[in-house]
Amino acid sequence: MGQLHNTENMINDIIHLQSSRSLINTLTGIEQNMALYESGIQEIRTKLEILQRDARFSDHHNPIESIKSRIKRPMSIIEKMCRKGFPLSVQSMRDNLNDIAGIRVICPFIEDIYTVADMLISQDDLTLITQKDYIKNPKPNGYRSYHLVLEVPVFLSSGKEPVRVEVQLRTIAMDFWASLEHQIHYKSSHDVPNDVVAELKECAEIIAQTDERMQMLSKQIRCISDNEDAVLKK
Ligand code: GTP
Ligand code: MG
Repeated sequence: MGQLHNTENMINDIIHLQSSRSLINTLTGIEQNMALYESGIQEIRTKLEILQRDARFSDHHNPIESIKSRIKRPMSIIEKMCRKGFPLSVQSMRDNLNDIAGIRVICPFIEDIYTVADMLISQDDLTLITQKDYIKNPKPNGYRSYHLVLEVPVFLSSGKEPVRVEVQLRTIAMDFWASLEHQIHYKSSHDVPNDVVAELKECAEIIAQTDERMQMLSKQIRCISDNEDAVLKK
């Protein structure tokens, strides 16, 4: 409710600042670029699905639990450009916003996150723009994830267009935490009470420890099953 109200106020400000004609032109230009961002998502998704298939057919551990994607809505793009003080134009959107196309990769274990990230970074048609490791360096509120911004070439009839895609990699447990934390901040029109913030942070620490323990367990289980296979082959 609070967030929605702020957005509404901001949109009203934009409408006062811009003539409605130029706002419509910018919105139309943004809409025309959405297919490009959809294609960027499709390209990266394909790479991730190939990795999943490869794991399935070669009988390796599958490092990907699930893949989600989303495109930022044109009005949210306008709202973000205003909030950050960027000029309102299609070029400014292409240059300044890295999260119009977003992919979230949910992995079973922490090590899988690094496997998938390395697999993407090492592909020679992708350019790494930014890399943030909020697992080794969690945010003060306890947020953990691994973020990449990648540029992928999309081939159109008019030629090659580089498209930026934000990829967030998390474990199932990190995703569970981030979803609730996001809901709490999004739904609340006031500051979140200190005790809730502290409780959330504590949950993030417990989740991080559990992720580590689950990782160790999975390694032990894989080790037992590898030994059994070796005995059977003898
Ligand atoms: P913007 O907020 O999009 O401008 O990104 P930024 O440049 O500050 O980048 P950052 O990598 O820190 O965050 C990008 C995205 O990660 C956000 O839009 C969220 O989807 C997610 N994220 C970052 N921090 C948090 C957090 O504290 N809680 C939750 N739930 N999600 C977060
Ligand atoms: Mg964002």
